[in-house]
Order: sequence, then structure tokens, then C-alpha cells
Amino acid sequence: VKTILTGIKPTGEIHLGNYMGAIKPALELAQGNDYAPVYFVADYHGLTKQTDAAEFKRLSYGVAATWLALGLDPEQVIFYRQSDVQEIFELNWILSCLSSKGLMNRAHAYKAIVDENRLAGREQDHGVNMGLFNYPILMAADILMFKTEVVPVGKDQIQHIEIARDLAESFNHQYGETFVLPEFIIQEDTAVLPGLDGRKMSKSYGNTIPLFEDPAKLQKHINKIKTDSLPPEAPKDTENSILFMLYKEFATDVEIAEMKERYADGIGWGEVKRDLFEVINRFIEEPREKYKELMASPATIDRILKEGAEKARTISRPFLKEIKDKVGF
Ligand code: TYM
Repeated sequence: VKTILTGIKPTGEIHLGNYMGAIKPALELAQGNDYAPVYFVADYHGLTKQTDAAEFKRLSYGVAATWLALGLDPEQVIFYRQSDVQEIFELNWILSCLSSKGLMNRAHAYKAIVDENRLAGREQDHGVNMGLFNYPILMAADILMFKTEVVPVGKDQIQHIEIARDLAESFNHQYGETFVLPEFIIQEDTAVLPGLDGRKMSKSYGNTIPLFEDPAKLQKHINKIKTDSLPPEAPKDTENSILFMLYKEFATDVEIAEMKERYADGIGWGEVKRDLFEVINRFIEEPREKYKELMASPATIDRILKEGAEKARTISRPFLKEIKDKVGF
């Protein structure tokens, strides 16, 4: 049985990109008996983008409620808040001392900010806190702590998994075989789900479609998805169509085949958007109610996450001890 692990950080409402890139594949892989799933709320990662305390708390509950509403079974999945598993932070420090600063300078998320600052004529590290700089190391600690073999993520996270592998290798080299080298799993066709403006759907671009939006707002968001100006009767290509990409994630096989034909025959974008709304809304209706119930009962979420953290710590406590022994504490 392979350990499969993934996390989501509470920095905004969970959107369709998070769902299709990470949650959906993670829940599917948790189904069979091939994997031991470990899923968590990456709240310490979320703190790298500070918001006010009440909002941060609400968003953390939101991430947990999303997983549960979509069917995560806490009996089957070790499910916790990252901040409840202290051992991860001790490992984070040990790995930090093993990481060259140069490697972190080249990490995409940090480099993207530096490049942006350069273009805007700002100081190189403007807006960068140390948490953000250390982000990939904490993520490596998340992964390595549970001897994770497989990490289901969107494409934007590939480099982070590679950094975790590098750190595992250097530790193993220096102190002897200890960590498992993780691999990522990417859903090829939704590895990068575009947002309303065609760029990657991302909380930081403000171009997302939140998963549990009320129907009227959901329709509004869908109407805002960028399309070309082909007239309704012109044949359309499903290949590069964001609308179709979304549609096929939520529609039945028969509906997908029909939609393909309608594209080829010529279909108006307004019509596609209406049908897309129908299939997403149909899927989301039940979980959305469940989500609302859970959000109204934070004590239930707390209890589930605390129990999950206890399970996680039956793994992390002895393993951290072994790691510290090897390092010479
Ligand atoms: P976060 O919260 O930024 O993203 C959560 C997951 O959603 C995926 N994702 C997307 N997938 C496809 N298309 C998109 N437009 C899109 N936007 C986001 C991300 O790739 C991610 O899988 N650093 C992680 C959190 C984390 C983590 C970990 C993940 C912390 N520790 C250990 C795995 C293992 C992140 O990006 O969160």
C-alpha cells in the first residue's frame, strides 16, 4: 500500500482548479485499497499570505469542510490540520539546514515575485516574507514526514515535489537511507485549469470560479469565461475550449459525446454556458448543502481534524525521533 498525500492552503475560497487538479483525483485514488491517503489543511502555508485572523480561521474551516462535503471519509483518510502536527515543523527546520539558499532562490513561486518586482521597478524582495521563501522546504517536510510515495497536485506544484525529492536524497546520502522519494501524479487534461481570463485559475489572480458558489453567482461566473467571437452557426473546436474542458469534468459520457457533435455542428457560446451551468450545478447541489451545514458546525470539523492529527502523530512522533537520532541529537 502506497502512501498518497496532498494539501490545500486556506488562502481563498476553494475553486474549480483546486477541485479538478487535486481534490477530485485525490478522492478517486482514496477509493480503492491501493493507497493509504493522507490529506490535510496546509494552514501554516496559508499564513505566508497573511489575512486577518478571523478570515484566516474561516478559510481554514472552509478547506476542511470542502473535502468533507465532497465525500472524504475520515475513517479511511488521515485528515488533519498541518499546524496540529508539530513534528512537521521540527523536520522543516532540519531540512532547512540541509537546503542551500541558492536552490530556494530558483524556486518558481519566489522567482515569479522577484521577476514581477524587477518589471515593476521595485526592490527585489518587495512583499516576500521568510515563510514564502521557505515554502518549498515546509512542503518537503509535509511530504517526507509520512514517507509519501505519490502526491496528486496541479502542474504548478511539480517543482515543489522535485525539491522534496532533492532534499530526501541529500538527507539519505548524508545520514543513511531514511526518506522515501516522492512522485507526483498530474491529471493531464486538467493539470492547469484556466480561469475566467484564460490565465491559470488562481486565488492570487482573482479569476476563479469558487466551487460552492450559489447558483445565480455560479451562472454569472460562467458567463464571464472568455470565448472567441465566432458566430453561433460556425463549427467550434473542443480542443482549446475552456468551456468544454469544464463540461467534460461534470457531464456524463453521453452528454459529452453529444456536446462534441454540437460543437462540430456549430453552437452558440451562450448555449454552452447554460448547459455547463446545468451540469456543474447538478453535481454541486448536494455537496454545497453539506458544506453549509459543516460550516455552521465548526466543533464537528475541529473534532474530525483533531482525531486525524492524533492518527498522523502516531506516524510522525516515532519517525521524527528516528530522524533526530540519525542527525545526532
Ligand atoms: P494550493 O492551495 O495553492 O493549491 C491546492 C491544489 O490545487 C491545485 N491547483 C490547480 N490545479 C489545476 N489547475 C489550476 N488552475 C489550479 N490551481 C491550483 C494545486 O496544484 C494544488 O495541488 N503548495 C500546495 C499546498 C501544499 C501541498 C503540500 C500539496 C502544502 N504542502 C504537500 C501537496 C503536498 C498548494 O499549492 O496549495
